[in-house]
Amino acid sequence: MIRRPLLVANWKMYKTVEQSLAFGRELLRRMQESPAWDGHRELVLCPTLPALWALARQVLPAGVEVGAQNLDVGHEGPLTGGVSGYLLAASGATFVIVGHSERRSMFGETDQVVAEKVRAALDYGLRPIICVGETAVEKNDGDTDRIVMGQVTAALAALSRPDPGVAFAYEPVWAIGTGELPVPEEANRIAAKIRRALVEIWGDSGREVRVLYGGSVNPKNVASFWGQQEIDGALVGGASLDVAALMAMATVAL
Ligand code: PGA
Repeated sequence: MIRRPLLVANWKMYKTVEQSLAFGRELLRRMQESPAWDGHRELVLCPTLPALWALARQVLPAGVEVGAQNLDVGHEGPLTGGVSGYLLAASGATFVIVGHSERRSMFGETDQVVAEKVRAALDYGLRPIICVGETAVEKNDGDTDRIVMGQVTAALAALSRPDPGVAFAYEPVWAIGTGELPVPEEANRIAAKIRRALVEIWGDSGREVRVLYGGSVNPKNVASFWGQQEIDGALVGGASLDVAALMAMATVAL
């Protein structure tokens, strides 16, 4: 089973429209000039919502995908501040991050909400990148596996059939934005466990699902995670804001 490697840049609440487009321009220029960029890896930029449409128009023709960082359930309707999968897909998004720990902790997104959003994303042809991961307290209590696998199972509950378009990102909450990292073999163990659960539920289609690692990934450490057998790529926050760093990660030798 060949899974296409996947690198996702999560820009969170950073970069204006102009800054996003300047980044896109520079990224495309570097890609053209880099012999190490052969398009084998899939690269997804997840900008702020105001920049999504323009960035998608700029980079999609070059084979770079654009994703949203969140979505709301539904199509159109009276939901002030809401942005549905329908609207995101019509703006050029092809991916969407679902259940990021910042959404779970600061916006109260429960496992059930995450499951509904996964369903809503797929309904509009968006590929959800489902974030799962334990907090520091849960890790210290020895609860990592139970928490992560609970989140994985809950996220799949809304799906009536296998959909290898989904991806999972194992992001230990304590590693996000902190510079702290799990040992890569431990992240690999969790990724393997997620995949085993997928195969149990979905059969062979489960093997096609990509599992990423996220949390304090940078050009120096990316290969130690991405090079693991069960890890198909990375979800990167802070280090993805710099175009040279993103290019270095996208072309890193594994
Ligand atoms: P970080 O963020 O790379 O800045 O730790 C990762 C994430 O939140 O997805």
